[in-house]
Amino acid sequence: MSSRAAIILAAGQGTRMKSPLPKVLHPVGGRAMLDHAIDAAEALGCERVVVVVGNHSPEVRAHVAERLGESAIAVQDPPLGTGHAVLAAREALADFDGEVVITYGDVPLLKAADIEPVFGGSGVTVVGFEARDPSGYGRLILVGESLEAIVEHKEATPDQLAVTVCNSGVMAAPAELLFDLLAQVKNDNAKGEYYLTDVVALARAAGAPTRAVFAAEDSVMGVNAQGELAQAEALFQKVQRDAFLAAGVTMAAPDTVHFAWDTEIGGGAVVEPFVVFGPGVKVAGGARIRSFSHLEGATVASGAEVGPYARLRPGARLGEDVRIGNFVEVKNVAMARGAKANHLAYLGDGEVGSKANIGAGTIFCNYDGFFKHYTMVGDGAFVGSNSSLVAPVTVGAGAMVGSGSVITRDVAPGDLALGRGGQETKPGWAARFMEAMRAKKAGKA
Ligand code: UD1
Ligand code: CA
Repeated sequence: MSSRAAIILAAGQGTRMKSPLPKVLHPVGGRAMLDHAIDAAEALGCERVVVVVGNHSPEVRAHVAERLGESAIAVQDPPLGTGHAVLAAREALADFDGEVVITYGDVPLLKAADIEPVFGGSGVTVVGFEARDPSGYGRLILVGESLEAIVEHKEATPDQLAVTVCNSGVMAAPAELLFDLLAQVKNDNAKGEYYLTDVVALARAAGAPTRAVFAAEDSVMGVNAQGELAQAEALFQKVQRDAFLAAGVTMAAPDTVHFAWDTEIGGGAVVEPFVVFGPGVKVAGGARIRSFSHLEGATVASGAEVGPYARLRPGARLGEDVRIGNFVEVKNVAMARGAKANHLAYLGDGEVGSKANIGAGTIFCNYDGFFKHYTMVGDGAFVGSNSSLVAPVTVGAGAMVGSGSVITRDVAPGDLALGRGGQETKPGWAARFMEAMRAKKAGKA
């Protein structure tokens, strides 16, 4: 196999998104569209990935630099067409002599497996698709198996406009051939742009082989506006749902469950209706995620039950048989086997030991306005309802905290801590008071 490089075009302005966020950074499945494109390039084994960016989006540039390094950036400014965009990457690949594939930062559903067939040719290979509505796309002019040319919509004759076999935009060729052909592309066309698609006819004129391979229309869809972003998300979610159902996850209403690109759920887990998975969640088989829960960056072990109405934030690590009930928020806390927080609590930064019971309304006061601190609750400890544990603080194994306490000092194992005003009871006071007030209201006093 010859070595592979990818050029990902992302220099478009994306004005139709009408969003301050650059188009290719909009997420699908909780991951930027551009990262989906880079993932596919990496999964194809591309040893070099170059992203062509415009000067109008410093955020895109920074995003690429962070993930791939400065050497992966090529700048196209001004944008003079797709062929011109690919040429902008020439210098970055000057020392590369394998095959180059061109993909797009705004085509989030295209997977490595869809692209793989473009490799292995000695000429130009494009990924085509059968379009439900071909308008706007470049048409593949095929004679039998052979690809004669790609004709852009604006350039097409009426006969060519009737063709429904279209260009996805993805193309591969050996690096030297590709850049030689691109150097010959002119902009004497309807849009006054340098069309990448012209390399097909130029390759034929040079005697190089040209061919098309095919992908499903849904996987090559490009995102230009918010409606298409939502459509891409819907297609992405459907793929995820079908995969989880096939893997043995029980979902009574799969259409209401929302997954992220990296969600992992083991077969035998149950996900009730209306659950949202943000990025970074792993749920073991045998766990149950109940309705209206929101999870991100969390792990849930077998036998654990979460929700309904629970929120797991990054670093929530629930051990086996843990119970997190309604209106409980857990962030950066490890809960050991069998620990419970069943109602209305905030557990942030700390550890909860095995079989510890956290009462309703408990708050881990983790933030002093400047720094975050840890709360450690030992195995089998019992924290009474409506307690504030002011971190840093430790409640030892088997210790108890009385309901309504504000705990600011460590509680040793086995101790009982009470941190609240003592109760005062005045015999008969309420009855006397109410009688006097009723009389006053009746005007008899
Ligand atoms: C292009 C193809 C067309 C294909 C269609 C698929 C050409 C000439 N035409 O048309 O055959 O059917 O895609 O969607 O290639 N871009 C840059 N710099 C530029 C111009 C574009 O980076 O100077 C990027 C854009 O950000 C976009 C992509 O390239 O992601 C495609 O450009 P666009 O102008 O949308 O091409 P189309 O006219 O749709
Ligand atoms: Ca387009």
